[in-house]
Amino acid sequence: MIASTVRTMRAWNIVDLHPQRRPASYAAGMTRPAVVITGAAAGIGRATAERFARDGYLVGAFDIDETGLASLADRIGAAGGTVHTGILDVTDSGQWRDRLAEFAAVSGRRLDVLVNNAGVLSSGRFESIDARAHRAMVDVNVGGVVAGCLAAHELLAATPDSVVVNLCSASAIYGQPELATYSATKFAIRGLTEALELEWRAQDIRVLAIWPLFVRTAMTDDMDTGAVATLGIRLTADDVAAEIVSAVRRPRRLLPKVHHPVGRQTRAMLLGSRFAPAWLMRALNRRITHT
Ligand SMILES: NC(=O)c1ccc[n+]([C@@H]2O[C@H](COP(=O)([O-])OP(=O)(O)OC[C@H]3O[C@@H](n4cnc5c(N)ncnc54)[C@H](O)[C@@H]3O)[C@@H](O)[C@H]2O)c1
Repeated sequence: MIASTVRTMRAWNIVDLHPQRRPASYAAGMTRPAVVITGAAAGIGRATAERFARDGYLVGAFDIDETGLASLADRIGAAGGTVHTGILDVTDSGQWRDRLAEFAAVSGRRLDVLVNNAGVLSSGRFESIDARAHRAMVDVNVGGVVAGCLAAHELLAATPDSVVVNLCSASAIYGQPELATYSATKFAIRGLTEALELEWRAQDIRVLAIWPLFVRTAMTDDMDTGAVATLGIRLTADDVAAEIVSAVRRPRRLLPKVHHPVGRQTRAMLLGSRFAPAWLMRALNRRITHT
C-alpha cells in the first residue's frame, strides 16, 4: 500500500526521491552556506541579511544603494559575520552576471539561497501615478526576479538542496485598488514561483514565495491607502526575515509548502481566499479598501 502510494506520487512528480546528480565542481562541506539577497541595503532585505549572517552564512548583499550597503557591511562585520556587498540593479542582466561571478569566486561556486527581495511601490489612484513609476514596478518587481532566476540558475543547480525565495505579497490574493500595478506585479511573482517550483524540483531547487501584508519599512512610509487605514501596518522587517529563514530551513517535504504567509492577518486572508466564492472576495476587498 505504502509502496504503491509512493509510486503514484513519483508518477505525479509529488515526491522526488532521486534529485539529479551534482557536478563534481561542487564540493559539499568545504565551504559555508551562501545566500544572495537583492535590495539588501534596507528594510526586509537588510533584516534578512543580518539573520542569515547570524546563522553563519556567507551573505551576498546587493542593492543600488551604496551607502546602505556600507552600513550593513559594518554591522554584519562588527557582529562577527561575513558579507560580500556589490552594486546591483536587478533590472540589468549584465550586472547580474558580473556580480554573481564575483560572488561565486568568494563562495566556491556555492549558492544555497537566492532571495529576490528588491522591489518598488507607488500607491494611489491608477491614473494619478506617472507612467514611468508604473513601468518601474513592472521592471524591478517582475523583470528583476526573472533576470535573477535566469542568472543564478547555474549556481543554484550546482548546489544541493538550493532554494529561491521570492518576495510576494498579500496584494496577490485579490487585485488591490490604489496599488493596481504593484498588486499585478505580485500576481506575476505568484505565477512565476508556482511554475518554477514545479519546473526546478527535478534539479533539486526549491522555489517558494513569502507573503507579507503591510510591513513597517520605507516602502510603506508614505502609503495612504484605504487598505492601510482598515488593516494597519502590523509587521516589522524582522518578522518577514524570520519567516524567510524558517522557510529556507524547513526540510524538503513530500508535499512542499510553496506559499508562506507572514502574520495572522495574511494567514487568515490567504486561507479564506481558498474557500470563499469570488463574489465574497470582491465584496470583502471592496470594504477593506474603501472603494
Ligand atoms: N513593505 C511592505 O509592506 C511589503 C509587503 C509585502 C511585500 N513586500 C515586498 O518586500 C520586498 C522588500 O520591501 P521593503 O519593504 O523592504 O522595501 P524597502 O523600500 O524598505 O527596500 C527595498 C530595497 O530595494 C532596493 N531596490 C530598489 N530598486 C532596486 C533595483 N532596481 N535593484 C536593486 N535594488 C533595488 C532599495 O534600494 C531598497 O534598499 C519588496 O519586494 C516588496 O514588494 C513589502
